[in-house]
Amino acid sequence: MSVVSPAGNGKITVPSILERKSGISLQNGSPAKIACLTAYDYPTARLLDEAGVDVLLVGDSLAMVMLGYESTLPVTVDEMLVCTRAVRRGTRHALLVADMPYGSYHAEPAEAVRNAVRFVKEGGAEAVKVEGGERRMDLIARIVDAEVPVMGHIGLTPQSVNAFGGFRVQGKTAEAGERLLRDARAVEAAGAFAIVLESIPRELAARITAELRIPTIGIGAGPDCDGQVLVIHDLVGLTFGHKPKFARCYADVGATISRAAAEYCRDVQQGSFPSDEESYHTRVEKVGTLLAQQK
Ligand code: KIV
Repeated sequence: MSVVSPAGNGKITVPSILERKSGISLQNGSPAKIACLTAYDYPTARLLDEAGVDVLLVGDSLAMVMLGYESTLPVTVDEMLVCTRAVRRGTRHALLVADMPYGSYHAEPAEAVRNAVRFVKEGGAEAVKVEGGERRMDLIARIVDAEVPVMGHIGLTPQSVNAFGGFRVQGKTAEAGERLLRDARAVEAAGAFAIVLESIPRELAARITAELRIPTIGIGAGPDCDGQVLVIHDLVGLTFGHKPKFARCYADVGATISRAAAEYCRDVQQGSFPSDEESYHTRVEKVGTLLAQQK
């Protein structure tokens, strides 16, 4: 498939994301923070890309917010690829990162590399995201060696939900914080170009951000990270149930859809939709013939 639009003209690339951290691209004297959102379909990708989002992540969160699963674990590479291709078609400027779903990099390293390459070749992604710290070092290095840039992800890694015993804030004790710091260093040393810090204390995220040369992208990790990511469904009020406190809601699209659907039902049931203006009409010269036939 045709994939990435050429660099230049504001196209966000892996090097330009790294430059944000190095301070080469300054905004009001400080490096411009990286705005990242998830996207899973063509229209959303177009809208977010045109709004100026830097990084679009086809997150495995789609298992929960799009497919209604309780966790991210069931989603497959093939399901992720369908969404990645749709987002690719709607994306011109943003860097497109695809999440490697649970099971796609947990067995043989060669299979993991093959799956990462699929996201580039078949999905049009420009990078993949992999959860885990020190224990993923070798894997991250192999994927990078196959010319696939890797975004790391530590802290509350949702694919570890069973090991964690739930979706819990990570790194709250001094010891757990030191472990996460080691994880962050390992991900950087393995060759990742950026790292997501999910649901960890602000102070720890600030420390990791100050120490790493690669950008940190926070979600529930406070304002000191080099960028932020949110799940688009949280941002626009399209989720049900528990809302984490970091998930600021910028619009209530859920309420808008509910209202529109209720009005449509009412109009159909009362016969006021469609109106005459919303109907096609027979050409005028044929009306006489039809009327004559009806007599
Ligand atoms: O799957 C996802 O959406 C993610 C982000 C929340 C970082 O991993």
